[in-house]
Amino acid sequence: MEILVYPGSFDPITIGHVDIARRAAKLCDTLYVVIMRNPSKKTAFSPEERAWMAEVSLKPYQNIKVEISSGLLVDYMRRKKAAAVVRGLRSESDFRFEAEMAAANRLLYSDYETIMLPCSANLGFTSSSIVREVAAYGGDISGMVPFEVRDYISEHLREHQV
Ligand code: PNS
Repeated sequence: MEILVYPGSFDPITIGHVDIARRAAKLCDTLYVVIMRNPSKKTAFSPEERAWMAEVSLKPYQNIKVEISSGLLVDYMRRKKAAAVVRGLRSESDFRFEAEMAAANRLLYSDYETIMLPCSANLGFTSSSIVREVAAYGGDISGMVPFEVRDYISEHLREHQV
C-alpha cells in the first residue's frame, strides 16, 4: 500500500496514538497523520500545537508525515490518493463508533476503506481525555504521552485547567 491516512483530533497525542502510527507506518510507503480541524469542537490545544506535538513524537519514523486539514476526511483521502484510513481500536464501543464512521464515509466515497488496528494490550486505558483530566489536576501523565511532549502538555493543561 502506497499511502495510508491516520486521522484524528490528537488532543493531545498519546502513546496509544504513537503505537498505532508506528505499526501503520510499517504497512505503507507513506503514512499521513492528519489533525482534522473541527471549528465546532472545543479542544484543549490548537491544531498547530497538536501538529507540533505529533511531529516531535513521531520524528523517529521516516515515512510518517504530519498535516492539518479542514473539511471532510474523504476529500483529504481523495487528494492524497490514499488506499485507506487507519483507526485504532481500544474496545467494543470504539468499534461501534468506527463502524458507523466507516459506513458514513463510504456513502460519501465508494472507495473508502478503513484499517482498524487493535491497540497493544497495555495501552487500552490510554486516551486523550484521560490525559487532559489527569494533567489538569496536576497528576503525573508519564506513561500516557510521549516523553518529548510530556512537560509541554502538563504545563499547558495545568495553566488552562481544561
Ligand atoms: O480522534 P477523533 O476525535 O476520534 O477523530 C475523529 C475524526 C477527526 C477522524 C472525524 O471527526 C473526522 O473524520 N472529521 C472530519 C470531518 C468528516 O469527514 N466527518 C465525517 C465523518 S463520518
